[in-house]
Formats: sequence, C-alpha cells, structure tokens
Amino acid sequence: MPKPDVSLPHRYDKIMDAYDPEGIELDAILKNVEFGANSRVLEVGTGEGRTALNIAPHAGDVYGIDIDEEILKVASAKLGESGLENVHFIEAAIRETSFEDDFFDVILCPWVLHHVDDKNAAMREVCRILKPGGVFLSIDVTGENDYIPLKGMVKPKAPEFVAKRKEEVLFAIKGSCLEIVESKSLKTYYLLKTIEEVHMFFEEFDIPYQELDEDYLNRFLLERKTDDGYRIGEAGHLTIARKE
Ligand SMILES: C[S@@+](CC[C@H](N)C(=O)[O-])C[C@H]1O[C@@H](n2cnc3c(N)ncnc32)[C@H](O)[C@@H]1O
Repeated sequence: MPKPDVSLPHRYDKIMDAYDPEGIELDAILKNVEFGANSRVLEVGTGEGRTALNIAPHAGDVYGIDIDEEILKVASAKLGESGLENVHFIEAAIRETSFEDDFFDVILCPWVLHHVDDKNAAMREVCRILKPGGVFLSIDVTGENDYIPLKGMVKPKAPEFVAKRKEEVLFAIKGSCLEIVESKSLKTYYLLKTIEEVHMFFEEFDIPYQELDEDYLNRFLLERKTDDGYRIGEAGHLTIARKE
C-alpha cells in the first residue's frame, strides 16, 4: 500500500513499512480466526490501520480504535486510498468505549496491551463488547526480541522489564472472562534496507547505539545482513481466547 500524503510527526510511522515483509503476522491472524462475511471486528490500538485494512476483505465491518488522533489521520488517509467501504476509524480508549454490549465477533489487539496502564479495565471492556462465543486475539511483546539485549547492554534492566510486560499482559487476559485457547510465540522481523533505516529503527526503539561497543554493534549488524537488507527479529507472543 503506498504511503498517503499526510505529514505526520509520529516516529512510529517511519519504520512500519519495514515490519513483517512476508506477512507472517497477518497469516497467523487469518489462520487462527474465522472471519465470517458478516462478522464485526474491532482492532484495538489500530495505529495506521495496518491490521484493520488487511483484515477488511475477510470480514463484514471492521472498526479500528486508537487514542492517538494524529495517527488516525494516517489510517483514514490509507482507508481513502484503499477503496474499502467497511472500515471505520474512531478515536477511543479501550478502557471505555461507546460500543453496545456483545457487539463484536472478533477483537484483535496487535502490539497494544503493553501500552495500556490498566490492563484489567481494558479486558473488562473487551468482555463487555465481545459477543458470547466471540474470539479475542492479542499479539504482544516478549523479552526475546533481537534488539532488546542491545538495550540491556546500556540499561541493564531493559530485557527483564519487557519480559515483565509480557507476563502482565498474559495475567490480565487470564484474569478476564475469556478462556485461553492458544498461547504461543510468533516470530516476525523487520527488514531494514539501509544502515540509515537501521539507525532510524534504533532511534524509534530508544536503543542508544552510539553508546554500544563498536565491535559488538558491527557483529550484531553483520549477523543480520542479507542480500535484501538487515533482518532484525521481532519475537511476539500470540494469545487467542474465547468468550464463553
Ligand atoms: C505499537 S502500536 C500498534 C499499532 C497497530 N495495532 C499495529 O499493529 O500496527 C500501539 C497503538 O496503540 C495505541 N494505544 C495505546 N493505548 C491505547 C488505549 N488505551 N486504547 C486504544 N489505543 C491505544 C497507540 O496510540 C498506538 O497507535
């Protein structure tokens, strides 16, 4: 999908084109969730609408909510260019939405719950707006990403901190009304075509690469260099659950 003509001061925007070039994440969503032609789907924390727009051809109506008004402008511009008519972007926080009870057949939460402060309140809202029998899918951070140890070289607590967030996300899902049916790792990657893109990536993820030992950093990059660019692994955790 081409980049829309929207100027956005959002850093997250810059590296998303490099994420998951093979569509491993989308494949995992499509293989694990049955989207009926009339199904109502919610993507929580939709960002640029990456997942919502890709799911739309497989579903009835797709809603994407986000707390960030600016990033929703990018999502809306992409929607305009896509020609899709069944996607709706709305500014809202998952803690409290205005959707009716039992509204959605599917709720997707890719890379969102670790950002949410009160995860239990978020999951209570998920339980309220998901239909009985409906499916919930979360993909979230682990401590095993390629780049997390780089943070740990400079800020020793970084890897444990991220692993703790994974546990918090799983704990909130387990403590909700949902029954977990699948919980497994999902390995994807960023393909960064140039060293400039790698630096942009490090900046996006607050990795102070200038402070790292140069030999170590060069070895890290050499090990990830391919003919197409630098391949940096992103280890997610996929959780699928159902409302009884
Ligand atoms: C890492 S991005 C993921 C975007 C998108 N799901 C994707 O996979 O491309 C996280 C998004 O969640 C949004 N977000 C954070 N807290 C939220 C909340 N409480 N309710 C709704 N969205 C939230 C952020 O604004 C951001 O756009």
